Amino acid sequence: MANKIVLLPGDGIGAEVIYAAKDVLEAISKKFGKEFEFSSHDIGGIAIDNHGTPLPDETVEACKKADAVLLGAVGGPKWDNNPSDLRPERGLLGIRKALDLYANLRPVKGFDKLLHASPLRPDIINGSDLLIVRELTGGLYFGRPSERQDNGNAVVDTLTYTRKEIERIVDKAFQSAQLRKKHLTSVDKANVLESSKLWREIVEEKKAQYPDVTVEHVLVDAAAMKLITNPTQFDVIVTENMFGDILSDEASVLTGSLGMLPSASLAEDGVGLYEPAHGSAPDIAGKGIANPIAMILSAAMMLRYSFQMNEEAQTIEDAVEQVLNQNYHTADLYNKNGELVNTNEMTQLIVETIE
Ligand code: IPM
Ligand code: MN
Repeated sequence: MANKIVLLPGDGIGAEVIYAAKDVLEAISKKFGKEFEFSSHDIGGIAIDNHGTPLPDETVEACKKADAVLLGAVGGPKWDNNPSDLRPERGLLGIRKALDLYANLRPVKGFDKLLHASPLRPDIINGSDLLIVRELTGGLYFGRPSERQDNGNAVVDTLTYTRKEIERIVDKAFQSAQLRKKHLTSVDKANVLESSKLWREIVEEKKAQYPDVTVEHVLVDAAAMKLITNPTQFDVIVTENMFGDILSDEASVLTGSLGMLPSASLAEDGVGLYEPAHGSAPDIAGKGIANPIAMILSAAMMLRYSFQMNEEAQTIEDAVEQVLNQNYHTADLYNKNGELVNTNEMTQLIVETIE
């Protein structure tokens, strides 16, 4: 039976990179005799233009019926001045909530051949390999009230978590650590925030269930510093929604480019959504020069997590590494010893390597 994949290209470079991932999946389909069935739906700015809402019902329904969802990116200057419920980002937050995608896994792994692309010293980033487990459906992003008050002269955003919401993401992080180097860093702001105090208590309670995993607590400000001064000390990092958003962009510097960072957003059971950690990059949209690797590696994560196709996922990851080892670079990774390629050329190189 065919695996049903919903494509949500979205805006800006989202649409450019998602079709790169589709090409790669088609190469995998041929090589391994797997059947993938694709359908595309609107989300974000393009959905506002076509349907008057950033998240049409038919998009949500299609995702619910799918076996997995691939998402490009949302947003762009065209919609920046819209009222908040008509912003493209609302579509992304809405689909995360509608599918209950509470666990966002963002692996950050440096490639040997990309050490030059990072502004950090090679001796600092060499060997860094970590996984950020970001809570994705709670915290400041979803707490209510979130509004202007006092005729616009005051404002409130709300950070809420329930015990159950924290427990499930902490469990996911412990389980992820068990499959890796068995070290978990829980990042919080327990010296100030009540939500962080409960978070820390729950991590402490859970330790007994995972005796093979070592645990440390690090305050978010210190974690931000350690991430770029001594990144190899980390294995799995678990943290709440907003901290995870910020730290994952920061961590992308270890890989040389935000264009390298894939992610998986998972529900307790149900469909998974896979998207690059980068945004729609309006500054380079339409030029065909975006790095498709974050999206392609997100498709590999889909094969692994949603379809249990480990060999197929590994084949994609190996192909990406091989092409980078041959010194092909998109503009974001480029140095003068490499060969500059555009989105399409990078994709075809990866496809040919798979074939
Ligand atoms: C991300 C993005 C989103 C987020 C935006 C586009 C709403 O930055 O996936 O990291 O903040 O979660
Ligand atoms: Mn982000």
